[in-house]
Amino acid sequence: MMPCCWGVFRERQHSPGREFDDTEILKLVAKHLEATGYRVILKTPENLGGGDEPLPALVFLMCERTDALAFLETLKAKGIPHVNPLQAVLNTYRDRMIRLLVAAAVPIPESHIVPSDPSGLDQNVTLLGTYRFPAWVKRGDVHNTREGDVEFVRSPEELREAVAALHGRGIPRVVLQRHVAGDLIKFYGVGRPRRGDRSGVWFRWFYHRDQQLARHPFSEKALQTVAGRAARALGLEIYGGDAIVTSDGEIFLIDINAWPSFALYREEASHQIAQWLLRLLTDRTSR
Ligand SMILES: Nc1ncnc2c1ncn2[C@@H]1O[C@H](COP(=O)(O)OP(=O)(O)O)[C@@H](O)[C@H]1O
Ligand SMILES: [Mg+2]
Repeated sequence: MMPCCWGVFRERQHSPGREFDDTEILKLVAKHLEATGYRVILKTPENLGGGDEPLPALVFLMCERTDALAFLETLKAKGIPHVNPLQAVLNTYRDRMIRLLVAAAVPIPESHIVPSDPSGLDQNVTLLGTYRFPAWVKRGDVHNTREGDVEFVRSPEELREAVAALHGRGIPRVVLQRHVAGDLIKFYGVGRPRRGDRSGVWFRWFYHRDQQLARHPFSEKALQTVAGRAARALGLEIYGGDAIVTSDGEIFLIDINAWPSFALYREEASHQIAQWLLRLLTDRTSR
């Protein structure tokens, strides 16, 4: 009998406005795997432990919360591979992501990870004041789940307000980040980039739609290199992110996420992801 795989949906609170797209991509990947004969069980992160199914040969996942990841960790301990790797998903938590990107020399806007506690804030505002406003205040842990998690601020007052609001919600750390002006680009990638070798990696980019586009010229190859380096730094195999291209063609990586919705490229991406998973599955059974 063909082995079974688990696919795990994203937590709904982590898909604001993207519930449909996030669900579709996972279902489509499952469909492609099933077409090659695999059995696929799709699960919500809340119901991971429920069933009495046999253990999966592989888990592919869009979930992000630590409780679901901790459950999957018990499967990983039994040698079951996960895509993305669980550690890579944890690495997308904002504070870890920033540290890893800096360590890997990925070009990101100047960023400071600071406590949200108001007592230390004046010092941090001074810190930020050294490179002028506007700036961004982002919650230090998970990505944007609701309004106020990622805020554009034009003054020290607005910055204080945004940080205080996050503090009031019990979020202990925030990222203060310099604003970079330019064209906003979204990118998608599938595969594991190796150093200096982009072959075998599927990559697409497009301009984010809601913006006044200047179409600053830039090197697409450089964009792919930056995105690939960021993915490698975090350990991601299925990823998407945001970058800014400045008026002089400089590329800044703003954000990288595990397994995005791939909305504009759903068909193409789902085949690429399924192929990536099949490769892992056949590598394992042929060992
Ligand atoms: N430093 C920055 N410079 C310019 N634009 C930014 C910056 N940080 C965030 N943005 C804008 O805000 C959006 C959301 O920020 P991001 O860090 O991607 O958080 P999330 O995806 O969790 O909402 C980005 O896609 C970009 O449009
Ligand atoms: Mg983003």
